[in-house]
Amino acid sequence: MSKPLKGKVALVTGGSRGLGAATARSLGGAGADVAITYVNSADKAFEVVAELEADGVRASAFQADQANASTAGKLIDDVVTRFGGLDILVNNAAVSVEQGRPIDDPDADVAALDRMYATNYTGIVAIIRAAAKVMRDNGRIVNVGSGIASRVGVPGLADYAATKAGLVGYTKGAARDLAPRGITVNVVQAGLMQTSMQPPDPETLKFMLSGLSIQRVGDPAEIAAAITFLATPAASYITGAVLDSDGGYTA
Ligand SMILES: NC(=O)c1ccc[n+]([C@@H]2O[C@H](COP(=O)([O-])OP(=O)(O)OC[C@H]3O[C@@H](n4cnc5c(N)ncnc54)[C@H](OP(=O)(O)O)[C@@H]3O)[C@@H](O)[C@H]2O)c1
Repeated sequence: MSKPLKGKVALVTGGSRGLGAATARSLGGAGADVAITYVNSADKAFEVVAELEADGVRASAFQADQANASTAGKLIDDVVTRFGGLDILVNNAAVSVEQGRPIDDPDADVAALDRMYATNYTGIVAIIRAAAKVMRDNGRIVNVGSGIASRVGVPGLADYAATKAGLVGYTKGAARDLAPRGITVNVVQAGLMQTSMQPPDPETLKFMLSGLSIQRVGDPAEIAAAITFLATPAASYITGAVLDSDGGYTA
């Protein structure tokens, strides 16, 4: 089996479960050594590490709360100390809170919304800034967005959509800044997946599926494949791009 990422070091945030775990497996399968982060699920994170090691690559899990931007520098230092460098960063970790509440809901938990902005946007910017200082030439940054950044589709998602739309603008700017070093920066906008992220209620799910071209929920491995492609040398001329892996939500 071809190993296009052999010798590369990857960091996947939120690699303990869901799309992050699928991405860690996919990058490891392509030959990369893989660091993952988690915030609460230590057991799940160490299971993913054990799977990666069984697949023949080096792997480690680091606890780092992305809602606290000041943790970014230490995280990147720890990864470089453990693996000797950094070539690939996948910003996957994110949360979705207060889903379904319209913006004029008087009972909205504003503190939870603020923590979501910190996790899904400010914390990611801090990790990109810290990683950019040490990433080797021809590195890869892939930010995980959502089709909801391009078309919200249902009420009650304004804040989550804003965090993901902000990521698109930052990606395009970062792509311009890092291109002289051969580092590409792209977004993969995921669609509905079978993960533990707040699943929509059955009625909303039915409505959302009816708006897809491919009318089924996605397997995280399908989105991980798009992320892994962007991490390979074959994607060296793609930067500042938004790749939708969402069953045709925006088609
Ligand atoms: N699920 C969907 O339908 C869907 C659709 C479109 C886009 N997306 C995007 O896809 C990505 C992955 O989503 P998912 O569904 O796989 O999510 P998930 O199953 O809820 O997993 C979230 C991951 O992020 C980590 N995480 C959460 N808060 C964190 C924090 N403060 N610091 C560090 N790590 C944190 C979690 O760690 P712990 O396990 O330790 O909590 C976990 O590893 C996200 O960017 C999401 O916005 C998802």
